[in-house]
Amino acid sequence: MDWREILEQLEAQLASLERQGVGYLNLAPDQALARQLSQASPVPAAATGTESRGRAAQLAARLKGGTAVVTGQPPPEPAPPPEEDLSRPPRVASGGAASLDELSAEYGACMACALAGGRNCLVFGAGHERSAIMFIGEGPGAEEDQQGLPFVGRAGALLTGMIQALGLTRDDVYITNVVKCRPPGNRNPQPEEIAACRPILQQQIELLDPKLIVTLGNVPLKVLRPNAAGITRERGRTFSYGNWQVLPTFHPSYLLRNQAAIQTCWLDFKLAFRLAYPQPGG
Ligand code: URA
Repeated sequence: MDWREILEQLEAQLASLERQGVGYLNLAPDQALARQLSQASPVPAAATGTESRGRAAQLAARLKGGTAVVTGQPPPEPAPPPEEDLSRPPRVASGGAASLDELSAEYGACMACALAGGRNCLVFGAGHERSAIMFIGEGPGAEEDQQGLPFVGRAGALLTGMIQALGLTRDDVYITNVVKCRPPGNRNPQPEEIAACRPILQQQIELLDPKLIVTLGNVPLKVLRPNAAGITRERGRTFSYGNWQVLPTFHPSYLLRNQAAIQTCWLDFKLAFRLAYPQPGG
């Protein structure tokens, strides 16, 4: 499936939900859109458990320049989502937490800034503890605040669709935001709110230790690279943040308003996939 088909399906799905008076997709419990998109994929799903890697491998082969030829011989696997390396001592973040769960519990009742008073849920982040890719958005919106999960509203539906189009699922990647509590009226987070949340984000990065961080929109870009030009100039160009490689791209909310930018963003997603899952010898 290419980006136009993804967009068409998303538009149809969103329009139909809007007609029914639904303002959001409840992706967390039923992954409805995700399922629909994966069923529509021309690449057959492999056995349970390796499904996303099988699709990832086939898509990776396609991204290397050829067309997808599905034969009896599976294409070589890309570097899989990293497994737990038991020979390595567990990472401990600069704040002392030894796991994302521990970190989440530590900050569950955080009152460090004014956003805390208005939240329904603190939206810590979600996904694979050992993901090679970490997506960072701005902050939770209304639906995220209700569900306690990042990117489950309209913008989340688009992000989920693009992740799926790479042959991955939301469970293969890690998704979080610069601030963990909803800014009122979906405004951008203020500098003091970003600063209050910064230790959480920093420790998430350290614990996850991803191969690639993908920043979505201007806010996370400027957090990791304060002197960066705007996202339009910076998107698609990697930079280093500490030990980590960062690829900025557009925020999905921007893509919903400027659909022509999806094609460019899709190039960034394909680059992200290649950087996070390098092919042996590729
Ligand atoms: N926008 C964001 O930046 N993050 C979310 O979780 C949802 C919308």
